[in-house]
Amino acid sequence: MDEKRRARKDEHIENYLRSEFRSKTLLNNIYVEHNALSKVNFDEIDTSIEFMGKKISMPVMVNAMTGGTEISEDINEDLSNICADLNIPMAVGSESIALKDIKARESFSLLKDKNNVFKIGNLGFENSLENFEFAKDLIGASAMQAHLNIAQELVMDEGERDFSNNFENLKNIRKNLSAPLIVKEVGFGMSKEVGKKLLDIGVEYIDVAGKGGTNFIEIEDMRIFDKDYSEFYSWGIPTAKSILDLRSLSDDFFLISSGGIRNATDVCKSIIIGADMCAISGEVLSFLLRGDYDYAQKYLEELQTKIKIFMALVGAKNIEELKKVPYKITGRLKELID
Ligand code: FNR
Repeated sequence: MDEKRRARKDEHIENYLRSEFRSKTLLNNIYVEHNALSKVNFDEIDTSIEFMGKKISMPVMVNAMTGGTEISEDINEDLSNICADLNIPMAVGSESIALKDIKARESFSLLKDKNNVFKIGNLGFENSLENFEFAKDLIGASAMQAHLNIAQELVMDEGERDFSNNFENLKNIRKNLSAPLIVKEVGFGMSKEVGKKLLDIGVEYIDVAGKGGTNFIEIEDMRIFDKDYSEFYSWGIPTAKSILDLRSLSDDFFLISSGGIRNATDVCKSIIIGADMCAISGEVLSFLLRGDYDYAQKYLEELQTKIKIFMALVGAKNIEELKKVPYKITGRLKELID
C-alpha cells in the first residue's frame, strides 16, 4: 500500500510533464493600459509584500506539489533552497502519505530544520485537526494549506467518494488549528458561493487554484488505462473569474491567485484584479525538471525583474499602487462575469 502511494506521487510528477491539455486562465481577457508618462525610477520599484507578518521579496510563492518519495525529496530540497534564496514562501505537497508511512515521513521531516524558508504544510480538508497539527510540526511549517480536491478524488479509482462531512471538518480545523490556514483548490477554481462559505467560517487566506494550468483530471486519467475521463478535461472555473468573483465578496481577506500562473503578466494582472499574491506550481516544476536547479532559480529571478518591468509600464512604484491600476474586462471573461 505504502509503495503504491509513493508510486502515485511520482506518477503525478511524470504525468504532469506528459500532460497536453491546455485551458485558459482568462487573464488574457484583462486589458490594462500602457502608461507612456510613467514616472517610476525602475531601480526603486519595490515588489515586496507582507505575508503572514513576514516581508517577502515579491507577491509569489511556490505552491504545493510533492513529498514522501526519493524523487520528491530532491525536488523539495531544491525548491526550498531556491525559495530561501529568493525570500519567497514554499508549500510542500500533501503530507497525507506521511501520516502512516514512516519512510515518507522521514523525507518530509528533512525540511524541519530549514529555518531560512517560509514553509507551508498541506493536507486534504477531510483530515482531522490532529493530522493537521502533526503535518505542521513534521516540517516546522509556519502555516497549513487545506486542499479541496473532489474533482481529483472522483477520477481516482482509489479516491474518496463521500464528501458529506468535509466542510464541517474544515470548520473545526479553521477554528482550532494553531497556525494560519490557507484553503486551496487544486486547479478547478472556486465559485463566489464557495468563497462566501469559506469567509463565513472565518477563513482568512484563500487560494483559488483555478483552471488554466495543471489539470488533475488529466493527470489522474493518465494513470488509469481502462477508463476515459477526457470529457472532463475542460472542467473548472478559470483563475481570472475566481479572483474577480471572490474579491467582489470582501476586501478583507488575503486572496491568492493560482492555476496557470506562468509569467509576470499573469502575476501583475492577478494583482490588478484583486489578488494579494500569486502561487505557481507546474511552471516552476517544468523549469526544475526539464532544465535544472539553476534554470528554476533563473526563472523565478527573471519573474521578479519582469514584474518590475510590468510595474514600470503601468507607473506603479509598489504593489499597493499596482492594485490601484485601472483595467477592463473583455471577451469570454466579460461574458462569464456578466
Ligand atoms: C500539485 N498540486 C497539489 N496541490 C495540493 O494541494 N496538494 C498536492 O499534493 C498537490 N500535488 C501536486 C503535484 C503536482 C505534480 C502538481 C503539478 C500540482 C496542485 C497545485 O498546488 C496547484 O493548485 C495546481 O497545480 C494549479 O497550479 P499550477 O500548476 O497551474 O501553477
